[in-house]
Amino acid sequence: MSKSFDVIVIGAGPGGYIAAIRAAQLGMNVACIDEWKNASGDPAPGGTCTNVGCIPSKALLQSSEHFEQANHHFAEHGITATGVKMDVAKMLARKDTVVKQNNDGILYLFKKNKVTFFHGRGSFASKSEDGYEIKVSGKTEESLTAKQIIVATGSSARALPGVPFDEENILSNDGALRVGAVPKKLALIGSGVIGLEMGSVWRRLGSEVTILEGLPTFLGAVDEQIAKEAKKIFDKQGLNIQLGVKVGDIKSSKKGVSVNYSNAKGEAQTLDVDKLIISIGRVPNTTGLNIEAVGLKLDERGAIVVDADCKTALPGVWAVGDVVRGPMLAHKAEEEGVAVAERIAGQHGHVDFNLVPWVIYTSPEIAWVGRTEQQLKADGVAYKAGTFPFLANGRARALGDTTGMVKMLADAKTDEILGVHIIGPQASELISEATVAMAFKASAEDIARICHAHPSLSESTKEAALAVDKRTLNF
Ligand code: FAD
Ligand code: NAI
Repeated sequence: MSKSFDVIVIGAGPGGYIAAIRAAQLGMNVACIDEWKNASGDPAPGGTCTNVGCIPSKALLQSSEHFEQANHHFAEHGITATGVKMDVAKMLARKDTVVKQNNDGILYLFKKNKVTFFHGRGSFASKSEDGYEIKVSGKTEESLTAKQIIVATGSSARALPGVPFDEENILSNDGALRVGAVPKKLALIGSGVIGLEMGSVWRRLGSEVTILEGLPTFLGAVDEQIAKEAKKIFDKQGLNIQLGVKVGDIKSSKKGVSVNYSNAKGEAQTLDVDKLIISIGRVPNTTGLNIEAVGLKLDERGAIVVDADCKTALPGVWAVGDVVRGPMLAHKAEEEGVAVAERIAGQHGHVDFNLVPWVIYTSPEIAWVGRTEQQLKADGVAYKAGTFPFLANGRARALGDTTGMVKMLADAKTDEILGVHIIGPQASELISEATVAMAFKASAEDIARICHAHPSLSESTKEAALAVDKRTLNF
């Protein structure tokens, strides 16, 4: 006997679990299916983000930052810390606890919101007048039906052709978060978000880190001025980032990994390391969904084809998050999940794709929202730019972290804020003010006229807004 629901969500990552909760809040009878298991074989909802992405990576970034502070920065404050050691097993155990708290939190939220959770793989079985039949294959087999299906199956790490992940020597983001001892030498392929975050973790803990990037430009999607500043800072920290390389043969043995590549000058090189992390982007998860049973279409990247509202070509079938077009970010997935649940309920769910903030959680952090200077130039938009360095901010000096700046771009005629780009302490938190301001179509002058607490890092955002009008007060 098939169990009937109003909505079935396949996948309980940030896109799926949030969609399920919102649909339940709106009075629908909701099932959510997810196959992720923890080491004990128990359900571990939360997807990539909770299990092997956002949350565990930030836990390790925090632990390694404490280690770096104790080793290199406590002395400036008059604190002597000798014999500082890192217990990697304890750091990993703490990370696992943080992950488990998040998994359990989602199971609690499902109960609280009366979402029925199924642990197993969901796949399309058939389409009929009653809607879609979804098979769940887990410890037991179940058949579920609903007229509305939300596919939120996420993404997985992209492997280099012919170089499968063994998660021992050749690591995806999963293995990169489980390395049991600090590798003496570590290489990463791809200097994108994962390359920089994971490279930073292991560099802080003592690895000699080399990042091999195929493109000749560093962080091409980031505002050029900010990307240049970031490169200078990472070079100084000792991250060896090589741009414009062409990766060749990769050989893994008991001793480690040997990576052959040619550098930007075309010279053949060999890099021998203990571990190799491959972070060259991610691919949408659709295998095992049996989309053929209902005729769901994929684009050339393997993503489920949806319109701007996350609707597929099949009536009642929606898809959100990493499995569809757009940035692969947890908050983008969540916003789409909420909007789809609201659309199913007949409301007007909305996502502003122009206002999805990005954060790279390195030290200093890099965060931005809206358009970069190079995009404005390409779009032929006349703009004014204002920057303010953290060096001139009292709170940053007190914190002992004065690297970086806030940069604001505003329309030359209307003064509307078009982009904000930050590199510096707590950029991840500071970017919210910019996002809110842009959502309300604020002008740079609006921010400049608002009272900001002193001393705070956010005063740098106000000063960058003043700089747009060439009237900073503290620089
Ligand atoms: P996912 O989180 O991938 O969840 C999909 C779920 O569906 C999984 O649990 C999967 O097991 C399940 N599933 C798949 N197929 C089936 C099936 N057939 N049946 C049942 N279940 C199925 N983003 C940020 O915004 N901030 C960050 O700091 C950040 N850090 C990251 C760090 C790393 C190392 C990585 C890898 C990613 C990071 N991301 C970050 C990206 C973020 O994790 C993803 O954008 C986000 O998880 C996408 O959410 P989703 O719900 O679309 O998919
Ligand atoms: P990415 O797209 O950020 O970076 C991949 C990098 O690899 C690019 O610079 C690309 O030019 C390079 N590359 C691709 N193929 C290559 C090759 N053959 N040789 C050398 N270089 C090559 O992807 P990444 O870092 O794997 O992360 C995947 C996604 O996960 C991100 O795009 C982001 O959406 C999400 N993520 C978000 C985080 C955050 O929000 N803080 C943190 C980590 C991941």
